[in-house]
Amino acid sequence: MDVAGKTAVVTGGGSGIGRAIARALAAGGCNVGVADVEREAAERAAAEIEREGVVARAYEVDVTSDAGVEALAERSFRDFGSVEILVNNAGVSSKPGPLLESAASDFDWVFGVNVRGMLSGIRAFGGRFARSGNPSWIVNTGSEHCLGVPHLHSGLYTASKHAVLGLSAVLRGELPDHVGVSVLCPGLVDTGIWRSSERRPQRFGGAAEANPAAAAVMKLGMPPAEVATRVVDAIRDETFYIVSHSHVVEIARRRWEEVAAAFEAQAPRRDGDEQYSMERIMAGFAAAR
Ligand SMILES: NC(=O)c1ccc[n+]([C@@H]2O[C@H](COP(=O)([O-])OP(=O)(O)OC[C@H]3O[C@@H](n4cnc5c(N)ncnc54)[C@H](O)[C@@H]3O)[C@@H](O)[C@H]2O)c1
Repeated sequence: MDVAGKTAVVTGGGSGIGRAIARALAAGGCNVGVADVEREAAERAAAEIEREGVVARAYEVDVTSDAGVEALAERSFRDFGSVEILVNNAGVSSKPGPLLESAASDFDWVFGVNVRGMLSGIRAFGGRFARSGNPSWIVNTGSEHCLGVPHLHSGLYTASKHAVLGLSAVLRGELPDHVGVSVLCPGLVDTGIWRSSERRPQRFGGAAEANPAAAAVMKLGMPPAEVATRVVDAIRDETFYIVSHSHVVEIARRRWEEVAAAFEAQAPRRDGDEQYSMERIMAGFAAAR
């Protein structure tokens, strides 16, 4: 799907990967709504984007609020006349630590933003896209963790990104043909995500000092603009998986090989084994209806 002449809304568009995606879309001739919980960051990004000669607007939104995301959809459709691209990118990472010491409030926060916030976006924008009949696209920001990179001491974040892949895979099958879906799976990118905990809302435990050692690690990441280019290419090429860090293929392969070996040892293929296949059973029910 071409992005020129379309309108995109990018959540978490005020900084990092989201801001870079917003800029790349604008460079491709797409109008952009920059949505972020940090109003000033969204306004700065929108001002920057307008220099590309497209229309940009800033929206303050907290994606953990269903009503807030619904209001974002309503306002952006009204302001631009139509929206065809949603980049569900807002995300947070809690302070690193082992799962045994993780707090329930951090689970609620990380899943609240990374997964539930994404679902709110899918419902609010996806429903409008489906009803409009216009070619549309949803990009969900996952990470290399979707593909099998277990980030030790970042278990809640890793689990939330597995959930992003699950949501995206099902969504791809459920939406009508004119609405496409991609899942973005980058590795390390040089952004300020390591400071998320400094802005953790009170209801999820309040602000917590970020680990300054993480800054040095993040600096070694890929520039956000490089990832952003791939997002625009993927929308144009209509691809589901958006990948950027080539070494991750080996980690994904190792996971798959371990799964395949488990099947070989415990449940090798045999004649008639499709008896319990959900796909086959559900197809039978659908045909009978
Ligand atoms: N940086 C990496 O190495 C990396 C790698 C893979 C995936 N990601 C993912 O990329 C996405 C963007 O992260 P980033 O690295 O650019 O970090 P970032 O901190 O620069 O950007 C995240 C943005 O989301 C916004 N945000 C946070 N909570 C929000 C909320 N409740 N409602 C609305 N906006 C909110 C923040 O204000 C910020 O502008 C996230 O989903 C992250 O998980 C990052």
